[in-house]
Amino acid sequence: MQYFKIKNLGFIVVIVLILVACKNTTNTNSKINDLAETKSYSEEELYRPNFHFTPKSGWMNDPNGMFYHNGNYHLYFQHYPDGNTWGPMHWGHAVSKDMITWEEKPIAIFPDDKGYIFSGGGIVDENNVTGFGNKDDQPIIAMYTYHDMEGEKAGKVDYQTQAIAYSLDDGLTFTKYEGNPVIGNPGIKDFRDPKITWDAKRNKWIMALAAGQKIMFYSTRNLIDWTLESDFGEGIGGHGGVWECPDIFPMTVEETGEMKWVLLVSINPGGPNGGSATQYFVGDFDGKDFVLDADFKSEIAELSEKSLWIDYGRDNYAGVSWANIPANDGRRLFMGWMSNWDYANVVPTEKWRSAMTVARELKLKKSQSSYKITSLPVEELSKYKKNVESNKNIAIQADTELVNSKVLDLASAEIKFDISDLKNNGFTFKLSNANGNELSFGYDSAKNTYFVDRSKSGDTDFSDKYANTVSTAQRTSINSNFSGIILLDKTSIELFFDAGETVMTHIFFPDAPFEKLSIASTNQQFLLDEIEINKIKFN
Ligand code: FRU
Repeated sequence: MQYFKIKNLGFIVVIVLILVACKNTTNTNSKINDLAETKSYSEEELYRPNFHFTPKSGWMNDPNGMFYHNGNYHLYFQHYPDGNTWGPMHWGHAVSKDMITWEEKPIAIFPDDKGYIFSGGGIVDENNVTGFGNKDDQPIIAMYTYHDMEGEKAGKVDYQTQAIAYSLDDGLTFTKYEGNPVIGNPGIKDFRDPKITWDAKRNKWIMALAAGQKIMFYSTRNLIDWTLESDFGEGIGGHGGVWECPDIFPMTVEETGEMKWVLLVSINPGGPNGGSATQYFVGDFDGKDFVLDADFKSEIAELSEKSLWIDYGRDNYAGVSWANIPANDGRRLFMGWMSNWDYANVVPTEKWRSAMTVARELKLKKSQSSYKITSLPVEELSKYKKNVESNKNIAIQADTELVNSKVLDLASAEIKFDISDLKNNGFTFKLSNANGNELSFGYDSAKNTYFVDRSKSGDTDFSDKYANTVSTAQRTSINSNFSGIILLDKTSIELFFDAGETVMTHIFFPDAPFEKLSIASTNQQFLLDEIEINKIKFN
């Protein structure tokens, strides 16, 4: 698949549609003015999130190079600063003390004559094994893919190679290594997105790289010379599209203390609800091979999509984890790009495009059948939370208002709910406004699935792949209790059902802010045991 074609197709389609629309209208000027007015209002007032990271201007996709150092979480990102659609890739940069409030920094890595700077990982070279630093400055190493556009356009296959760059000013500016590329292309067309992890047991770094529809593992002791160890993925998991942006790391099962290795693999297309999504695998890694856990392997073999997914929503892609989290913290912290290649280039924002998900903590749980990854918003979010109200024992049958915008800004909120006895029932939450926009989500008991329907959520017609289906996710938890966290920003909803075992993230673009959150039961009455309504507040 060719980058230029894929990433720009949507944009070109929109331009053609706009041209056709202008040609066909008798009142061209007023149409264009309307569009301009709506856009500027939408963009500044309506669509830029309150607490999710967006670049000040320009295009953004995958999170890159994330590491923690000297009290700061660093986030780099695929960035085209000179346009609002995908283009020549740079690494943008932002830092945060808590992964919630971000400060955008100058661009960290620029494209050059070897190519665009595609996705990759970052780590702190604490012992200066590269020799790029000195005793005062620990070098930060960024490893990324060079994407040579000329090579691609010329029809070559070997246009993606792996390179490194180092920073001696704590990740602000980078010097590219003069011996780049450090890994040449072995004749594989999609060969990209290196992500480095420290393997404490073997005392070396390992790196996961996407290669076609497989992951290749490399190892190194000096971050410059890399040895290919093995590959993984043939006939395993989802294969509806190219594999991208892997991440591999050890995780301990909290309840048992057992250690397993987790591999994240993003895939596009081929996600459970269409387009882009991130699958995960649980197994063991011996420094050479990643081998699936036997129970996990039989569990995913039974599934229709042949995989379990970090997020079943349509808008969490290319997510990876932070490196160098101190051992006394020990969390596995994750962030994804809150969009989908099906329509990312044409969502209705102008000055900037795309946001990241909220930062999440991943955990590995031993379930009845095998293992599950759970994700929940990082605990740092709680310092921004202010309780607005909490209610207990509300009888629910017909559509019942839970909260409205007089009490709570529904564009910056967290709502937690708990239902201990659903009585073989389903429930539907609904966000709505006076413009008739609606976003509904809930649980379908007949199918045992969670769902999100954004077909009436406002602006939906910028792409026919955006709201064409209702997203669904099989409920995997067998807990009789239903619980969830609903995290709302201006243009996103992140749903964490069953303590984060099933997650669904979606973006939406209402004509005006949502004013009301309500809930209805599908059939008979049930009791909403508890609802906690929190504001997410910044001052
Ligand atoms: C994933 C991806 C990566 C690539 C980058 C280019 O969204 O396609 O595989 O490195 O985006 O911007």
